[in-house]
Amino acid sequence: MTLGSGRQKIEARHLTKRYGSTRAVDDLSFDVNPGIVTGFIGPNGSGKTTTMRLILGLSEPTSGEVTVGGRLYRDLPAPLREVGALIDAKAVHPSRTAYRYLLALAQSNAIAASRVDEVLGLVGMEGVASKRVGGFSLGMSQRLGIAGALLGDPPVLMFDEPLNGLDPEGIVWIRQLMRHLASEGRTVFVSSHLMNEMAVTADHLVVIGQGKLLRDEGMSEFIESRSQHWVVVRSPQLDELSTRLKAAGAKVKIGIEDSIEVTGIDSSGIGDLASAHGLTLHELATQRVSLEDAFMDLTHDSVDYRASGVAA
Ligand SMILES: Nc1ncnc2c1ncn2[C@@H]1O[C@H](COP(=O)(O)OP(=O)(O)OP(=O)(O)O)[C@@H](O)[C@H]1O
Ligand SMILES: [Mg+2]
Repeated sequence: MTLGSGRQKIEARHLTKRYGSTRAVDDLSFDVNPGIVTGFIGPNGSGKTTTMRLILGLSEPTSGEVTVGGRLYRDLPAPLREVGALIDAKAVHPSRTAYRYLLALAQSNAIAASRVDEVLGLVGMEGVASKRVGGFSLGMSQRLGIAGALLGDPPVLMFDEPLNGLDPEGIVWIRQLMRHLASEGRTVFVSSHLMNEMAVTADHLVVIGQGKLLRDEGMSEFIESRSQHWVVVRSPQLDELSTRLKAAGAKVKIGIEDSIEVTGIDSSGIGDLASAHGLTLHELATQRVSLEDAFMDLTHDSVDYRASGVAA
């Protein structure tokens, strides 16, 4: 298979989906590019699944459009060979075996039966191929769903919350799988509400809140722009130290329990300055905003904005 980049870009333009008065997806425009993992992140109910369903033509946009390789999903001649997706892991008929489920999927899409064994191997499910899907744990269902997505060897892959129900080993496995698929030149679009997991999996981030686009940027840009840090300092000579720090250009805020919180100078700078003036330090601790906090902060703003908009 050739992984020509023209076939692989997902392009959403002013994509909007309304359910009654709910704007599940609200004027979203973004690109998902090949060769990288793009994380699609937002809190519960922010419109991630709805967006993925729109990409797959499982529901129709109220306005705007989304294309894969320049075409609407329904116009793709062999969809399963173009786009593989895991949307609802529990959607498989419970009385089917894993093997039968995949075989039916392969046959209805003109995919060789030998590929079924291949993908069962890829997701580590050879041992349970003849078991009924109804008895599967959520983690096993996720693996089966991923096997289904990989069946047509598609250049574009979408996974909706693939980490749900996976144990730590499963989480590492899926992270490596996604990175591997991207390294082969595929387009990998994966949703999650776990920022820390995305930080070690995705190269690029599309962040939404209340159906609206909040950020569309590289992971390193996101980390850089969001990860503030400051230093908590305790000293028996806090007043004099504060004066010296301000004179050196640092910003000083009163902290809790007789501490100060210092920005604009790092911990070694503070240590050196204290030493140069014979001041004693009892604590010098660098603090960072976690990515999870940064994400909550970002999406919380959008919830506030939305709530006041409705009230007005
Ligand atoms: N078929 C539907 N009918 C009515 N409302 C819907 C429908 N599908 C989704 N919604 C609403 O659209 C909004 C977005 O839902 P969606 O499932 O896309 O969010 P999500 O980001 O996937 O959330 P989660 O993290 O919980 O999976 C929610 O307010 C939801 O209630
Ligand atoms: Mg969802």
